[in-house]
Order: sequence, then structure tokens, then C-alpha cells
Amino acid sequence: MEKLNQLYEGKAKKVFATSDPNYVIVSYKDDATAFNGLKKGTIAGKGEVNNRMSNMLMTMLEKQGIPTHFVKELSSRETLVRKVSIVPLEVIVRNVTAGSLAKRLGVEEGITLKRTVLEYCYKDDALGDPMVNEYHILAMGWTSEETLRKIAEYALRINDILKAYFKGLNIDLIDFKLEFGITSDGQLVLADEISPDTCRFWDSSTHEKLDKDRFRRDLGGVEDAYREMMRRIEGK
Ligand code: TMP
Ligand code: ASP
Repeated sequence: MEKLNQLYEGKAKKVFATSDPNYVIVSYKDDATAFNGLKKGTIAGKGEVNNRMSNMLMTMLEKQGIPTHFVKELSSRETLVRKVSIVPLEVIVRNVTAGSLAKRLGVEEGITLKRTVLEYCYKDDALGDPMVNEYHILAMGWTSEETLRKIAEYALRINDILKAYFKGLNIDLIDFKLEFGITSDGQLVLADEISPDTCRFWDSSTHEKLDKDRFRRDLGGVEDAYREMMRRIEGK
């Protein structure tokens, strides 16, 4: 499939058209932002890690019955995916208190939640991706009740699969963000990426952070953390 013009440039990826209208090519950048684009930087090698990690995880999820946009890895930074219309929600799954949840509830980070927490944010940069609930989503018509039910079901199943997988790599999956899309033939699929940009990974023994929080919080060792995650996933 031929790579054509650029359709879109986001904060961490570019999207290109292909000769088939049902497919696009995503190209992962080393650019990193935080706090709704307020903090900017680069993380050398991030694009390659996120591309490979996301593709490996989506392949694993597909095998376990979760439909995804992933089609084929084209190069170290580029992947062919199904073109989707993105459901304008960030679906956040939490197992342990951290980040904005810890802040909002006034609790420390690292408390294991008694059950999984699911949150939705409305994808709108100008508004800073405000948190919304099922009532807002349905009242605003951002997606249907049936699709929202499926999104929640997939998100919880993805959490079960990923939590167990990462535990085997001595990593605690603290929380993560998912995005879903609808293909041209109406199928709901997992889209965007699953990477250290979109997940919190803590080493199970040392509790060391191995994700983008090292960049957000100026902790240093950002590149090493991304490389370490890739090393564990590749079993080296
Ligand atoms: P939060 O604690 O800042 O709300 O983040 C929850 C999870 O979502 C965390 O794993 C990081 C991820 N995330 C994104 O992928 N994109 C974002 O814009 C934000 C704010 C968080
Ligand atoms: N990617 C988001 C942004 O720039 C935030 C984050 O990941 O913390 O705003």
C-alpha cells in the first residue's frame, strides 16, 4: 500500500493517507508533551519503543479476542492501521492510586484500589480533556449506549490481560489510557497506542517508575526507562 499525503499531526504521532481509503499509516515521533502541551521535549528513541510496544501488545490483545486497529508494522517507527473515526473519549483504567486520581481524592500514590476504576475524559484539548461520566457521554451523543457498554467491557478485559502480562515481567500496571474508534464498516476497535506514554508502569520490586512520569515530573532517566520496558517485553 502506497504512503500518500500527511492527514494529521498530533503531539506524538503523524498520520498519513494510503492508496486504500480504509487504511492509514501512523508514524511515531520522539516528541513528548505533558500538561496539555504546556511542557514540551523530546525523548530519544521513544517513537521506536512506542511503535514496537504498542504493536506487540495489540497483537497479543487481538489473539485474546479484542479487535484493534493494528494491521502491520512497516518499519521501526511506522505502522499500517485501519482508518477509524475516533470516539472522542479517553478511557482511563486504574488499579492503583496515582496521578490525577491521587490529587483529586487527596490520597497518596500507590494504594491498591479495592476494585478497578474506569474514568472517561472528553477529548478536547481546548478544554483540557475534562472528566465526564456516562450521563454526559450519552446526553451529548458522543457515542451510543451499546458502544459505550462495549468500550467498558473491552477496557476491563484489556486490563485483566495486560495486568497479568506485565506482572510476569515484574511490572505493576498502575493505570493507563485507551482510545477506541469505529472502522468504515462499523466495527468498534481499540485504536491509538499502548506505551509508556499512555500507561504507568512501576517495577514490582523497587516501585521505580518506568514510564512518561519520569518526563512529566523531571525525574531523569527517561530514555533508560523506555528502553528498560522494551527490554523486558522482548525478554532480553
Ligand atoms: P492521570 O492520572 O494524569 O489522569 O493519567 C491517567 C493515565 O492516563 C496515566 O497512565 C497516563 C495516561 N494519560 C494519557 O495517556 N494521556 C493524557 O493526556 C493524560 C492526562 C494521561
Ligand atoms: N500527552 C498529554 C499532553 O501533552 C499529557 C500527558 O501525557 O501527560 O498534554
